[in-house]
Amino acid sequence: MDSLNRRNFLKVGGTVGAAGAVAAVAPATPWTWSPAGSVPGTGSGLDPRKAWDPDGDTVVANLLDRGQVPEVNRLLRSWTKNGQPLPAGLPPELRDFMEHARQLPSWTDRGKLATAVRFNQKRGTYLGVLYGFASGMMSTVIPKEARAVYYSKGGADMKDRITKTAKLGYDIGSLNAYQPDGEMVVTCVKTRLAHASVRHLLPQSPYWVHAATEDKPISQADIMVTWHSLPTTVMRNLQKWKVPIAPDESEGFLHSWQVSAHMLGVEDQYIPASWHQADAQAKQVLDPILAPTPEGIKLANILLDLGMNLDLSLLSRPVLGALTRFMLGDQIAGWLQIPREPVWTPLLETAWGPYVAVREGLLNVGMPREAYWLFDEFLRQFVLFYMSELRMPINIEIPVLNNPR
Ligand code: HEM
Repeated sequence: MDSLNRRNFLKVGGTVGAAGAVAAVAPATPWTWSPAGSVPGTGSGLDPRKAWDPDGDTVVANLLDRGQVPEVNRLLRSWTKNGQPLPAGLPPELRDFMEHARQLPSWTDRGKLATAVRFNQKRGTYLGVLYGFASGMMSTVIPKEARAVYYSKGGADMKDRITKTAKLGYDIGSLNAYQPDGEMVVTCVKTRLAHASVRHLLPQSPYWVHAATEDKPISQADIMVTWHSLPTTVMRNLQKWKVPIAPDESEGFLHSWQVSAHMLGVEDQYIPASWHQADAQAKQVLDPILAPTPEGIKLANILLDLGMNLDLSLLSRPVLGALTRFMLGDQIAGWLQIPREPVWTPLLETAWGPYVAVREGLLNVGMPREAYWLFDEFLRQFVLFYMSELRMPINIEIPVLNNPR
């Protein structure tokens, strides 16, 4: 890890600590959201902060202990399409687990998934920016996630990690996401295995032992918190920007994410049945826990430089910083030590709303041509950025190491 070594990290931690910017992580809020609002409308209501992925965790822990993960990763490299049989040679207990894990939930609604595709096609340009900078930056102020990412193997190569996470955003929005020739089921099952590995490995990291208050990371509740940084945050922003969205498309988008939560191993009783329920759950489990950590500040810092070596002039650090402030607000930007940018911050504040209105055909006057062009070009560069990131085949692997730092 070059830009993220222990010395830099301590420096950031020290500076931040001295400035008093790192709030003490909020005490764990109890999980009070009722399963009555979930997809099945019922459930045990057991606390998901104490639930992980028992079957997957046992299988992967055994693979790690037996040193079989490199061979499993090699075999799984050829497994890329939802409908493809699992490769021969996998250890039997892993094969059994994966055969089960790859099944879509009984409540999958193909019609809604088809509508989600329409939503993704129409809104794809906004979605790249939103997944990348509203969801991506928000993950750095979700303390448990920031720490887990920072101390796991992925923390050593954020570019690679972002690319792999971008794959999930791309797969879920693709035409055939959950169809036999799509890749979303594979991406979710591989991610579920990666998470199981992190649960086994991370508690063994000396850095983790000192920095985290939890024994075992990535609980079911944690996954739902992160889930809200994705679809719920995207939808909140689209509404704030007054992007008109047909009700069936909005429902389809939600459904594609409900299915993904199930495929990531979340019990149905924790998956919100509607946007109303999603927002209610996010208000309880996401909004109050957002806070800065030294790890998250470092990760945000790396994210802001992602456009650095690209020939995409608008994806510069100041512009991406202004975008983060605009989407996540002054408080989060302040936590992440992102300065107010003198040109882009006021421009976004005053002209983004009219830009969206013009783009959506709701307004045809009142928008300076230059500002319209600038925003259009900005969105175009984001799409190019994603396309360049997703050009190569991307393979999610089960990590065998923590971040060596
Ligand atoms: C790995 C997505 C929740 C921490 C991954 C990967 C994806 C992903 C696509 C594979 C990327 C890679 O191999 O680098 C998601 C989604 C989530 C979610 C969609 C929720 C909806 C969480 C949560 C945490 C977490 C709640 C921690 C609290 C990690 C870590 C890795 C990982 C540490 C492993 C990175 C590595 O070392 O290779 N996740 N994740 N994730 N995720 Fe998640």
